[in-house]
Amino acid sequence: MKFSVIILLLLIFNYAKCESDKCFYYDDHPFPFFASKTAYNYVSAKQNYTQPNCKTLQLWMLSRHGTRHPGRDTIHKISNLNEYKNNLTNNSSLCKEDFEAIKTWVFNLTEKDEYKLNSQGINDLSSLGLRLQSLYEDIFNQPYNPMTYSVLSSNKERSRDSAFYFLKSAFNVNVTDIPLINSDDKKLNISKFENKHDNEELKKFRCSIHVQEVVVSVSKILGLDRNLTFNIIKAMYDSCRFERSINLNSHPAWCAVFSQKDLEVLEYDEDLKYYYLNGYGNSYNERLGCPIVKDLMNNFKNKSQTQLGPKGVFYFGHSSNVFSAIVRLGFARDTIPLLSSNFNNMRDRKWKSSYLSPFASNLMAVLYECHGVKKVTFFVNEVPMTVEKYGCTLCPWELIENMFDPIISNPSCTFDENSSAFKISRTMNLLFLTYILNIFYYFYYS
Ligand SMILES: *[C@@H]1O[C@H](CO)[C@@H](O)[C@H](O)[C@H]1NC(C)=O
Ligand SMILES: *[C@@H]1O[C@H](CO)[C@@H](O)[C@H](O)[C@H]1NC(C)=O
Ligand SMILES: *[C@@H]1O[C@H](CO)[C@@H](O)[C@H](O)[C@H]1NC(C)=O
Ligand SMILES: *[C@@H]1O[C@H](CO)[C@@H](O)[C@H](O)[C@H]1NC(C)=O
Ligand SMILES: *[C@@H]1O[C@H](CO)[C@@H](O)[C@H](O)[C@H]1NC(C)=O
Ligand SMILES: *[C@@H]1O[C@H](CO)[C@@H](O)[C@H](O)[C@H]1NC(C)=O
Ligand SMILES: *[C@@H]1O[C@H](CO)[C@@H](O)[C@H](O)[C@H]1NC(C)=O
Ligand SMILES: *[C@@H]1O[C@H](CO)[C@@H](O)[C@H](O)[C@H]1NC(C)=O
Ligand SMILES: *[C@@H]1O[C@H](CO)[C@@H](O)[C@H](O)[C@H]1NC(C)=O
Ligand SMILES: *[C@@H]1O[C@H](CO)[C@@H](O)[C@H](O)[C@H]1NC(C)=O
Repeated sequence: MKFSVIILLLLIFNYAKCESDKCFYYDDHPFPFFASKTAYNYVSAKQNYTQPNCKTLQLWMLSRHGTRHPGRDTIHKISNLNEYKNNLTNNSSLCKEDFEAIKTWVFNLTEKDEYKLNSQGINDLSSLGLRLQSLYEDIFNQPYNPMTYSVLSSNKERSRDSAFYFLKSAFNVNVTDIPLINSDDKKLNISKFENKHDNEELKKFRCSIHVQEVVVSVSKILGLDRNLTFNIIKAMYDSCRFERSINLNSHPAWCAVFSQKDLEVLEYDEDLKYYYLNGYGNSYNERLGCPIVKDLMNNFKNKSQTQLGPKGVFYFGHSSNVFSAIVRLGFARDTIPLLSSNFNNMRDRKWKSSYLSPFASNLMAVLYECHGVKKVTFFVNEVPMTVEKYGCTLCPWELIENMFDPIISNPSCTFDENSSAFKISRTMNLLFLTYILNIFYYFYYS
């Protein structure tokens, strides 16, 4: 009995000692997964995946823009941390190096940097262009021209710049007139169709013990005698992950306040956000990917039947584009839904935004001809995907075509103005408007 108490004390003593000795500054392999602000290098396969016995007929790619600076709101929130770095007290349990790093931390981004593709972002798309060019010789064997290579970008500067650097490295050209989407575009501009209801699971998760523990732990590590708000913690997380994404080998000051468990909780928080906004959390979301997947299938249909059409199709957009295409194709689907209550059970979930939509994330589909038979492989961030229904990675195109034809030709799989589905969503908006007006009248006249 006494003996086990001594062992226990020794263990506790050692544990406490280890904890206080732990220095983020000296961590050789810091945790790299930061949801949609993850660096591409940590999750992409970049493997030499080729089919030596096949000819490549068409390469279809949908890419998110590369690493960018934070948006205006986030820049403001991170700047406000300057106030908090001075509030570190001598009771902080940070090691000397981490303590000093926060004390001397400077943040020099301003509003004019918002959302800009940064140096790492240029690197992301340039290296992707080079890799694909050397891997798919059948595709990149002609000078760039808009007939052979179909390019389309979202109208945001970061996407346009991403397209520019991709083409520059893949074709050695400066394409200054990147084709941009029209105002009525449905393939890439899906934000107007997104279902922006309150995310109840996310709200509940913020009140859960897991998030509370992060708040308490970070406050304590800083030596504060009060609890910070979640928004301040989130600003520290953003500072940490944005700095990390622009400089892969850096040890950003604010990362030191988080344990790996904290970062996993914050990653889950983000995963819940995307799961209900763009993912399987709402069956409506499967429609968001309809126009883009229809485009993919139609391109492959044309190419496989007539050999006509472009060799390469390259789209540049945002994380919502990549998520909704992944969802429409059925990849990364968990059998159990992500909920505020099952963080621990879902540790090995497929729905991890760090893997699905890091900076420069991409969904690729390659149409091959292998001994006269058309085949297809899908890639997410250059990782070849298995089509679960058939257990194949290099799948007969016929199977894929037959699998998706009923889906994309279903009337609910459209945002065409005159389709019943679109009318329903419009009616819903009208109902909502009527509801608001009613409330307004109620208050106005009473
Ligand atoms: C890929 O592998 C092939 C055959 O093993 C090799 O010839 C080629 O150089 C490799 N390419 C790259 C980019 O590593
Ligand atoms: C930091 O500490 C100062 C002085 O102790 C205090 O006035 C200020 O409110 C604190 N700032 C924050 C953001 O807690
Ligand atoms: C540090 O902690 C001690 C004991 O809890 C407390 O008395 C002291 O005021 C704290 N110092 C600071 C700077 O917060
Ligand atoms: C913290 O400790 C340092 C040196 O150990 C001392 O110079 C400083 O005055 C202390 N600050 C506070 C607020 O106690
Ligand atoms: C901002 O800070 C980083 C490192 O902290 C530095 O590399 C960069 O040059 C600075 N930029 C400006 C505009 O001062
Ligand atoms: C989508 O279209 C809206 C107008 O309908 C526009 O304000 C927005 O910037 C567009 N988004 C993208 C990503 O192009
Ligand atoms: C592209 O533009 C850059 C900078 O203006 C120039 O240095 C480079 O030579 C151009 N490349 C080509 C292929 O035109
Ligand atoms: C911080 O919050 C935790 C749990 O929410 C609570 O138990 C603790 O007393 C709070 N600490 C302070 C210093 O208020
Ligand atoms: C496929 O070919 C048809 C007929 O030539 C054409 O109307 C259609 O735009 C093509 N679709 C795609 C996605 O290339
Ligand atoms: C929708 O239907 C109306 C009337 O039936 C027609 O005038 C209009 O051109 C149609 N719009 C589209 C995009 O097909």
